[in-house]
Amino acid sequence: MKTLNVELGSRSYPIHIGEGLLTEPTIWDEVVRNRQVIVVTNDRVGPLYGPQVEAALRRSAREVLMVELPDGEAYKDQASLMKIFDAMLESHLERSAIVVALGGGVVGDVAGFAAACYQRGVALIQVPTTLLSQVDSSVGGKTAVNHPLGKNMIGAFHQPMAVVIDMGVLGTLPDRELSAGLAEVIKYGCILDATFFAWLEASMPRLLRREPDALAHAIEHSCVLKARIVARDERESSGLRALLNFGHTFGHAIEAGLGFGTWLHGEAVGCGMVMAACLSHELGQLSLDDVRRIEQLVKQAGLPVRGPDWDAQTYLGWMAHDKKADSGQIRYIVLRGLGQAEQRGVDDAVVRHALAMSLKGFD
Ligand code: NAD
Ligand code: GLY
Repeated sequence: MKTLNVELGSRSYPIHIGEGLLTEPTIWDEVVRNRQVIVVTNDRVGPLYGPQVEAALRRSAREVLMVELPDGEAYKDQASLMKIFDAMLESHLERSAIVVALGGGVVGDVAGFAAACYQRGVALIQVPTTLLSQVDSSVGGKTAVNHPLGKNMIGAFHQPMAVVIDMGVLGTLPDRELSAGLAEVIKYGCILDATFFAWLEASMPRLLRREPDALAHAIEHSCVLKARIVARDERESSGLRALLNFGHTFGHAIEAGLGFGTWLHGEAVGCGMVMAACLSHELGQLSLDDVRRIEQLVKQAGLPVRGPDWDAQTYLGWMAHDKKADSGQIRYIVLRGLGQAEQRGVDDAVVRHALAMSLKGFD
């Protein structure tokens, strides 16, 4: 097992990464001793991993409750939140209780928000089970539910007391979900670490074959990079954490325009990163060779590289809806060479050129 740390003063926490951690006594026994624990999962992950987590917790917890939400982004909503609160209140959970979020990013976000709200905040342990949640959503304390008028619009920052990443659970993850997670891994290489990007180029076949040492390095290094950013800009106030949204502005436009759920979030981000690379090139900040490398890596990961064939105005319209549009201006994350990024406004005319470039291809 490897343990990293997210350095946030009194709210610092460990990220444990390894195989078999769902039932590892050294992870659970002391942390949950004599406390009430509520495990929030869904009806896909619960049957796969719920019983073993429950048994591990029962060794030393005072009480263990299991709550199963329906699977899917559609259930990242107020009804799921209420289901968790109902269970907590009916069982008289105290302020010392711990919420364990066992699932992908959807479960992590809704269970995390429940932990942030219940009695004004109880402890949370993230146990992410998708690659995307292991490399991104479980670290950093963003929690939320969706509102009919906007995704992730109702939420809070609530850091977990620990993140427990058991790589063994990736064995049951569908290929399409693995690829979606790889989009976020590629993102770290693009914005922060050209050496890691080159390692991903060399290692993609091994990652797709789920070779444990390759996955371990991808997960660990992604968590190291994310932890570093969160430690320096926890609440996305300095602009540093916003760099993690590379590819997301274009990606959200695709997700929203096609209807959420048509493409997975990671698929839209993969394609969005190619668009953002084209934009960086149009701004004179990224060579055509590097745009090609990004497109090739995204494609190799099994992700789409061409967006829907909409006119530029349609993309701009959806991007203006995005919550990252600030004071009426869309803020883009663009590269300044591979491994470095910045946030800036860009003239619509330049964005139109970039969209045209990405949609027609540049081979
Ligand atoms: P998800 O939670 O919907 O999981 C994807 C699918 O895989 C689901 O059907 C799930 O039940 C299933 N699954 C999970 N683990 C499995 C396993 N081990 N074996 C088999 N099936 C498994 O999707 P996701 O990609 O993990 O997360 C997406 C969500 O994360 C979105 O709601 C997004 O907004 C959120 N997100 C949050 C942050 C953050 O910082 N909080 C960052 C990125 C994304
Ligand atoms: N996924 C973006 C963030 O955590 O800030």
